Amino acid sequence: MAVDPLIELHDVNKHFGELHVLQDINLTVGRGEVVVVIGPSGSGKSTLCRAINRLEPIESGTIRLDGQLLPDEGKSLARLRAEVGMVFQSFNLFAHKTVLQNVSLGQIKVRGRKREEADRRSRELLDRVGLAEQAPKYPAQLSGGQQQRVAIARALAMDPKAMLFDEPTSALDPEMINEVLEVMRQLAREGMTMVVVTHEMGFARSAANRVVFMADGRIVEDRSPDEFFTDPRSDRAKDFLSKILKH
Ligand SMILES: Nc1ncnc2c1ncn2[C@@H]1O[C@H](COP(=O)(O)OP(=O)(O)O)[C@@H](O)[C@H]1O
Ligand SMILES: [Mg+2]
Repeated sequence: MAVDPLIELHDVNKHFGELHVLQDINLTVGRGEVVVVIGPSGSGKSTLCRAINRLEPIESGTIRLDGQLLPDEGKSLARLRAEVGMVFQSFNLFAHKTVLQNVSLGQIKVRGRKREEADRRSRELLDRVGLAEQAPKYPAQLSGGQQQRVAIARALAMDPKAMLFDEPTSALDPEMINEVLEVMRQLAREGMTMVVVTHEMGFARSAANRVVFMADGRIVEDRSPDEFFTDPRSDRAKDFLSKILKH
């Protein structure tokens, strides 16, 4: 496959005290590629996502976005964060702002857009995630699935080059999981570069170009979903799959 790298991690290491949470991580995500990251709890998946967005400093190695080394601090860091949209398990919407204001805020503050222009773009994106009607409401008036779709719209409003999703459906009631995954599938079809930490194996099978399996701070397997699910090589992956595919 011809790879046009958008996110490149090279020999990335990080500790939390004694814990070597990221161990020699090498990972390239091509433009338009969807990489699903799976692995047991505590294996370093969230830390990896946060490192890509510089929410977590690393000790050694390099992380590049679209060919540029990630800056350590300052203004360029805010710009970088805008270039990599992040969606977490908890939606982190501002409770005292409307849905529309939530989606417009970053555009105005970080992208320097005029409110009218930002609101126009917000409405477009809310329409895309099926929430045009909800614009004047407050987050508490929405279901969890709707709030998570607002969070996705808010990240997209910054025109990111890539999107990181860290267990975006883990806090949702089962009947709301699909409406969020469907928005993510649509994004994938439109060519968005995505790194997705999830336990939704159906999503991994249907939307991922690659599955990265992490255990104890290392990337243990990095393969196509088909290969990974039908023929996992490592004992760690076999063990993990047998546990999660059982229930
Ligand atoms: N800020 C932190 N300080 C100390 N230890 C942390 C911190 N964040 C995460 N850890 C530890 O690092 C390990 C990996 O965490 P995390 O990246 O959240 O794993 P995952 O997302 O795969 O469950 C865990 O053992 C966790 O307890
Ligand atoms: Mg996590």
